[in-house]
Amino acid sequence: MQLTQNFSLKNYNTFRIDAYAKYFVDFSSPAILSQIIEEHKNKQKMILGGGSNILFTKNFDGIVIKNSIQGINVVNEDEDYVYIKAGAGVNWHQFVMYCVNKNFGGVENLSLIPGNTGASPMQNIGAYGVEIKDVFYELESLHLEDNSLHIFKNPDCEFGYRESIFKKKYKGQFVILSVTFRLQKKPVYNVSYGAIEEELKKMNVESLSIKAISDAVINIRKSKLPDPEVIGNAGSFFKNPEINSGELQELTRIELKVPSFKINDNTFKIPAGWLIEQCGWKGYRRGDAGCYDKQALVLVNYENATGKEIFQLSNQIKQSVSEKFGIELEREVNII
Ligand code: FAD
Ligand code: EPU
Repeated sequence: MQLTQNFSLKNYNTFRIDAYAKYFVDFSSPAILSQIIEEHKNKQKMILGGGSNILFTKNFDGIVIKNSIQGINVVNEDEDYVYIKAGAGVNWHQFVMYCVNKNFGGVENLSLIPGNTGASPMQNIGAYGVEIKDVFYELESLHLEDNSLHIFKNPDCEFGYRESIFKKKYKGQFVILSVTFRLQKKPVYNVSYGAIEEELKKMNVESLSIKAISDAVINIRKSKLPDPEVIGNAGSFFKNPEINSGELQELTRIELKVPSFKINDNTFKIPAGWLIEQCGWKGYRRGDAGCYDKQALVLVNYENATGKEIFQLSNQIKQSVSEKFGIELEREVNII
């Protein structure tokens, strides 16, 4: 299998950082991946999907392996559900559009999230009241050391908020080849996330449908988030922190009107975008690195910022949020 040497990753990450891979290879079948693993046992490896959740702060001194396995197939169905298997290299939004067009319910709230299907379980992607753990059935993966095939069912993945076993215990160990989702034939609509209902009203939607919800989510996202084709970014840079009721009380002593979302009696989620905005970062720009002016949780590369500059900005933001509110923000984006 031919590897390309000294390969620019600028067009392979949505931050548009001009980092280089010592070696690069694109594969579209598990057999070719096995061959790469077999032939390059001693080289450091990294799997790349759409590059929409990665910040390169340096060149990668090993092989970047881009997963381009395609295919969307119905593999099983019963009265209530349809099971659809998608290749890891299938663009996520295209997969969502496939389900929306067939009227299969469950992923419409996750419309327009960039990246590929294979990365969706990595951080249990989520938006507008839904996470992929709600529709995930199983995945097939190959172990990067010994080429063995492993199937992970839903509980095996230990999904949490922007978390899975693949970001923790099994970090960097498995290549996800395909993901199978269980979708509803009789859709149950989820419009509980405030902005969706508002947007549906604006759109004059009279009868609810999967397509209408998908369109509403697309509209909301387009109004808030920068299009990576225009401004480099990787979506939310940090996770929304979770705090307990004592910490929430303490926070309201510092700022009276703290937006918070109750998770259970003693756990509350605080929007990191709000914390960052309160520290004065929203719209900040230094050189080409900045904090987006419509959504403070999104760090951006206006043109030629380096990964290090974005990372340094994220450190400054982390520090000021810690100093003002005593809250330690955790990065969501994968730092290389
Ligand atoms: P990459 O960035 O290529 O990789 C991410 C991580 O997964 C890396 O560690 C990589 O090594 C690993 N990986 C990728 N593919 C595989 C594979 N096949 N096997 C094993 N490991 C793999 N995320 C949300 O959850 N919700 C949102 O609403 C959301 N909105 C976004 C909006 C914008 C504008 C942008 C730019 C990003 C947003 N994101 C969001 C983040 C991002 O889209 C998701 O995390 C997405 O799943 C990343 O997919 P990817 O293919 O680009 O992964
Ligand atoms: N807010 C501000 N100022 C800002 C931004 C946000 O005050 O500049 C406050 C507002 O109170 C707003 C609240 O934060 O009501 C929530 O903002 P928003 O609805 O935009 O969502 P978010 O919490 O910032 C999360 C996810 C997004 C996901 C949206 C929609 C995380 C880390 N981010 O953002 O996911 O699309 O909700 O569900 O959980 C991503 O992971 O990359 C991502 C974009």
